[in-house]
Amino acid sequence: MFHVVDTSVFDRPLLDDLCELTTLVRTVAKSPEGARCLQQLAPTKRAMLYFTQPSTRTFLSMNNACHVLGIRTSEIRNSSVSSEVKGETFEDSIRTFSSYVDLIVMRTPDPGYAARAAALMDSIPRPVPIINAGSGKDQHPTQALLDIYTLERSFEESGGIDGKIIGMMGDLKRGRTVRSLSRLMRHYEGVRVVFIAPDTFEMEPDIRAFMAENDIPFEETGRLHEILPELDAIYVTRIQSEHDVNDESSGVNLAPFTIGTHELGLLKKTAVIMHPLPRGPEIAVEVDQDPRAMYWRQERNGMWMRVALIAKIFDLDQEIRELASRIR
Ligand code: NCD
Repeated sequence: MFHVVDTSVFDRPLLDDLCELTTLVRTVAKSPEGARCLQQLAPTKRAMLYFTQPSTRTFLSMNNACHVLGIRTSEIRNSSVSSEVKGETFEDSIRTFSSYVDLIVMRTPDPGYAARAAALMDSIPRPVPIINAGSGKDQHPTQALLDIYTLERSFEESGGIDGKIIGMMGDLKRGRTVRSLSRLMRHYEGVRVVFIAPDTFEMEPDIRAFMAENDIPFEETGRLHEILPELDAIYVTRIQSEHDVNDESSGVNLAPFTIGTHELGLLKKTAVIMHPLPRGPEIAVEVDQDPRAMYWRQERNGMWMRVALIAKIFDLDQEIRELASRIR
């Protein structure tokens, strides 16, 4: 059983394999024949999208990734319309979904639920895989995968992620995307990470400890302009104000943590600008025109990476490789 609860399931060979599979899938899908063949890969499978926290990209890309493989989907996007309002426990709800489908993709406002769902699956007679599509402030493993894919493709001509200096900026304290991506950095050689954040939203000690334990060199700064010329990638995130308890966000001056035309002038020609989206004011819309702005491509990569991941979970990767060699 292959659950994706957090980034610990991925090692370098699997990451490389998923990146390769992503590129194969999108190549096959380009031709109408290829797209039809992909849809024949899993037409008897069904997936449940259980998203009780707002989502645009992750929901739509997961849904469409399933459809690319012919997998039918059903959804609950609000626990107030499920039997949880009648007092059904989370575990009983998940067990119920698993009675009807072959895969559960879930996003929750609080951490820990995907792990609970996976543990439950491992204890029942008809388990189905669980994919964590975002667990509170904690983890977002499939976003980290598409980020890895985008970085690898961006640095295709310069040796991939290995040896690069990657800046992560914004609300590092409560941003699950940067937390998951930081963890995956341990699989890349010679990478240096720079955390750039206002004091209020510095990276949490657990990730700093993880970096230290895994020998991932990192530094922390509040001075974007000083570090920007050194970076190969700047991964920008928004302030996660939905997690405010005492209105923490409103007192923070975000101006020094934004990318606009001035910052473009400081950034290397070969660097890339990423963002998991949705964005706030931290990336000016003018930046969209710059060839180094990678976030819209990153968003699209997300669907193809999720196709690859789901294909891997259902053991369809060999069939995709065969399709690619036949149709390409
Ligand atoms: C991110 C998330 O939900 O954590 N969005 C996404 O999935 N692309 C980032 C965010 O909401 O800031």
